[in-house]
Amino acid sequence: MRDYKEFLSEVLISQDQLHQRLVELGKQISSDYEKSDNLVMVCILRGGVMFLTDLMRQITVPHAIEFMAVESYGSGARESTGQIRISHDLNTDIRDRDVILVEDIIDSGRTLNSVLDILCARKPRSMVVCTLLDKHDRREVDVPVKYVGFVIPNKFVFGYGLDLDDLYRNLPFVGVVDEKKYRTG
Ligand code: IMP
Ligand code: MG
Repeated sequence: MRDYKEFLSEVLISQDQLHQRLVELGKQISSDYEKSDNLVMVCILRGGVMFLTDLMRQITVPHAIEFMAVESYGSGARESTGQIRISHDLNTDIRDRDVILVEDIIDSGRTLNSVLDILCARKPRSMVVCTLLDKHDRREVDVPVKYVGFVIPNKFVFGYGLDLDDLYRNLPFVGVVDEKKYRTG
């Protein structure tokens, strides 16, 4: 297996920066949901897993967690059409609950837009989005996002849950891939 150092062009967000921002987000969410008795954090697999598990440790209000996996249709590895199929659905009903949808990254916004349509149809009491990364300049579909970890430039990133062809999700930082080195390696 190739060492990521062969194609890492830069560390965009360090482990320390991630931790600091997660503490802030955790505080904000804990205060915003102080009065909620029905909070559920819904994580979109697989990219959002690390973010969810670290973030929930910073949240002091009681909450449940749920997972959802979606597959995109007709998309290349690096862009999405927004047409999705649910390959793993939630195990509980979210009707009348306060939902925070936890995502790794929003790029065009198409995937998230489709997920929101599906989940909002189930009539939650409230529904907001919390994303670790926001590639804001790439947005094609306007999606409401309440909590953003970091706005990042239009570069392909990996690590901290985000994959490069299914690998390197375990890295504790967010790195930028040198596409040329990655492809020719
Ligand atoms: P969207 O539908 O264009 O917003 O695509 C969002 C999805 O594309 C994310 O959930 C990721 O799975 C993937 N994605 C977009 N940009 C990156 C990236 O820079 N690194 C890794 N995955 C990405
Ligand atoms: Mg994803």
